[in-house]
Amino acid sequence: MADDLMSKLVSLCKRRGYVFQASEIYGGIGSSWDFGPLGVELKRNVKDAWWRAMVHERDDIVGLDSAIIQHPKVWEASGHIENFTDPLVDCKKCKGRFRADKLDDARCLEKPSKKPGECGGELTEPRRFNLMFKTFLGPVEETAATAYLRPETAQGIFTNFVNVQQSARKRPPFGIAQIGKSFRNEITPGNFIFRTREFEQMEMEFFVPPADWEKWYGEWRSLRQQWYIDLGIDPAKLRLRDHAADELAHYSNGCTDIEFLFPFGWSELEGIASRTDFDLKRHAQWSGKDLQYFDEQTKEHYVPYVIEPAAGCDRATLAFLVDAYTEEQVEGETRVVMKLHPRLAPVKAAILPLVKKDGMPERAHAIEKALRQRFTTSYDEAGAIGRRYRRNDEVGTPFCLTVDGQTKDDQSVTVRARDTMRQERVAEAQLENYLAAQMANWKRGVS
Ligand code: GAP
Repeated sequence: MADDLMSKLVSLCKRRGYVFQASEIYGGIGSSWDFGPLGVELKRNVKDAWWRAMVHERDDIVGLDSAIIQHPKVWEASGHIENFTDPLVDCKKCKGRFRADKLDDARCLEKPSKKPGECGGELTEPRRFNLMFKTFLGPVEETAATAYLRPETAQGIFTNFVNVQQSARKRPPFGIAQIGKSFRNEITPGNFIFRTREFEQMEMEFFVPPADWEKWYGEWRSLRQQWYIDLGIDPAKLRLRDHAADELAHYSNGCTDIEFLFPFGWSELEGIASRTDFDLKRHAQWSGKDLQYFDEQTKEHYVPYVIEPAAGCDRATLAFLVDAYTEEQVEGETRVVMKLHPRLAPVKAAILPLVKKDGMPERAHAIEKALRQRFTTSYDEAGAIGRRYRRNDEVGTPFCLTVDGQTKDDQSVTVRARDTMRQERVAEAQLENYLAAQMANWKRGVS
């Protein structure tokens, strides 16, 4: 069932232009994906919704866009050079390379029905493999020129703590948010866009007075879970999972994962970590710069504690797609519908002339042009109207607007809602307000 749902989704994503395999014409490259015309819109909508909730709707968080390539000392200070590793073993016979702590989930290269080592090969002792991608600055490939592609966006925020705090004149509690690409040389990427080597993160570091960290940790755990629910995710498929002490990263004294029930099981969508004052203290130590905050009111110097909600944009996008995918029996056939929240849907309204004559295409084009100023729209005149509805259901377009014979008489169109298939007659002059109100009032399983 799970494989079936994932393969249907992967196939729909390719057929309709959500996600393509990267370098497909060359046979593809492992776990790299390109987002097509619909996928890029969906991802933008996910990022916009995050930015709106985290930055625009709050007065205590500001944004940042830091560089992917940072000074190598950043990664020494953060602990990534020393600690950002997975334990690996090699099979001396089939030459497979596996995570020593995940051998039960791995498959032998020679005999995929068997586990590592069951091909008769001896497994080497585990050795630590650093997940950061290395590169060289300038033309000379030497150690002194080594640089890394960032494995998380967070460190660019810590190194800019004083710049942002002073220029934006913020006092703790306040946050700095960032969306951007990160890179990890994952040993076991997979599950479509769930785990890849290049991915986008949506991270926010919230700097608080040390005494207040627990309050803010609790606050961000619930705010972040609610964000997914507000965007239509089924609450029954979300849960919070606290990390056990031996799971915690080297910088953290508490961490909760927001998990989603993917077809392949409960898996992490986002982590909310209490990072203490680890990062700022380490960067202060490595850079020699004072990264304390001076509180004018209490005349106190202190290093703030940090609460970090860190989400993956690609993972969230996959969760929204999985959760939206629905099959229904309608009039003896299967209707596939992507019941995406209208805020996330790549196209909000499709404008369809009932037939390609009697001035209907021209009217439909005019309506589309007007609505385009406010909503993403599409125009479709190919095939029977029922087929066009199904096509739009499958890509998740919440509204289909049909221009028919009545339109030229009374300047109204039929608006069909994707989820209920209910149809209503709406005056052209009212369309913009009508669509905006319907989208604002959309409720999962009701609209
Ligand atoms: N700054 C903290 C940090 O990076 P993380 O749990 O390693 O924490 C945060 O990453 C989020 O980034 C994860 O919850 C996940 O959504 C996303 N993420 C991490 N590695 C990923 C990968 N290889 N592919 C896709 N998304 C990934």
